[in-house]
Amino acid sequence: MSAAKKTKDTLQAPKGMRDFIGDNFYTKQGFYEKAQEIAEYYGFSGIELPILEHEDIFIKGVGDNTDIVEKEMYSLKTKGGDKLVMRPEGTAAIMRSYIEHGMGSLPQPVFLYYGGPFFRHERPQKGRYRQLYQFGLEIIGSEKAVLDAITIQTGYQILKETGQDITIKINTLGDSEVRKEYLKKLKAFYRKNSKRIAKKDLERLSTNPMRVLDSKEPDTILVNENAPTLISTLNDISKKHFKSVLEYLDAAHIPYEIDNTLVRGLDYYAHTVFEYVTYDKDGNSSLALGGGGRYDGLAKVMGHTKDVPAVGLGLGVDRIMDIAKEGSFNPKIRKKPKFFFIQIGYEAKGKAFNIIEILRKKKYPIKHSLSKNNLGKQLGIAESLGIPYALIFGKKEAIDSTVIVRNMKTRKQKTIPIEELADYIKTLK
Ligand code: HAM
Repeated sequence: MSAAKKTKDTLQAPKGMRDFIGDNFYTKQGFYEKAQEIAEYYGFSGIELPILEHEDIFIKGVGDNTDIVEKEMYSLKTKGGDKLVMRPEGTAAIMRSYIEHGMGSLPQPVFLYYGGPFFRHERPQKGRYRQLYQFGLEIIGSEKAVLDAITIQTGYQILKETGQDITIKINTLGDSEVRKEYLKKLKAFYRKNSKRIAKKDLERLSTNPMRVLDSKEPDTILVNENAPTLISTLNDISKKHFKSVLEYLDAAHIPYEIDNTLVRGLDYYAHTVFEYVTYDKDGNSSLALGGGGRYDGLAKVMGHTKDVPAVGLGLGVDRIMDIAKEGSFNPKIRKKPKFFFIQIGYEAKGKAFNIIEILRKKKYPIKHSLSKNNLGKQLGIAESLGIPYALIFGKKEAIDSTVIVRNMKTRKQKTIPIEELADYIKTLK
């Protein structure tokens, strides 16, 4: 590779990763603020975990035959020989933390929310990143169906803040007994139809036949129309749990569609699984904005001695930002400045910090160009930013301890003593 080409490549963010600049930065922050606020109202508390975790957490937790573990993990070996990965998802890591910190001795269940970057080495395309952002909820320590419903409801209320129509798809995978029985049936069905399904899916049959149901291959999609449904294999416990979840959703008027093809791509699910989707402008293709489900078996699979029933979800922040109506997410710290602070000359520059500090204490954010000296240039910047007032502080004002307040539209201006500035600007519209 030529040196020029190499420099050009390294001066770009890695593939599938991006910078959040300007409005994007604030929209993401505004989303997290809103999501956390709603989660807090619904009784969740925040938790933050490391970006790196032991590889085993995900191999055991998410499952070694899943796409995430098989193809998408960013793995590294430390100098000390530890095998770590950049976390591809949050649930297995939160369960690790629950076990490590003995959260089982707290009043159960514990309600947790979290957010931040996750890493999956996927083929980047629209709405798919290698560094993706999620907001997640997990309720750990109870098997009660009402908790599946409150998880779905909290996620739904967060997503409704986008101003878009959200559809909830829901399904049940039954408990582990059902799953065993169903896998047997499914394998037999695909074996019978092996000549009609895509080659890629045939390979999956031996590792994870449930994933064949999720296939995007046209041949397999056709075959899948007649695949045995898990619903027909459900035992009484699983039926009762699912029915109960649906009843809670009905009672809360949360709309949903039962979708028996929904399996999701992670191994830890049992009982309820769900996904939030939105349709594109022509209503043709759907986009998963988030998903989740119950994972009662995860703790044991990860090596814990006890069963720890739990339910949760993950929302895709990148996708939410893409589809949200403009202005849906404004963080509280972002304020539209009403004042542009202009200073002219050495004396004024020195005292300028005091004035900025007076304004900050009174909660007036400003814009300025402290590096400039010319009045005309600074007024020009204030105008181009559409800021309604300029505060002008020149040599004379610095000596007199005054500030000129100028209405940018009418061009009327008034000289105000510094000590009266905060009170005076309060009166301005
Ligand atoms: P997941 O379905 O793998 O679930 O991811 C949740 C959401 O993250 C997806 O619905 C999607 O919106 C977003 N997402 C996933 N991959 C990407 C990507 N490459 N680029 C952009 N967005 C993406 C989980 O991660 C589970 N931990 C959810 C969960 C929590 N289940 C129980 N508790």
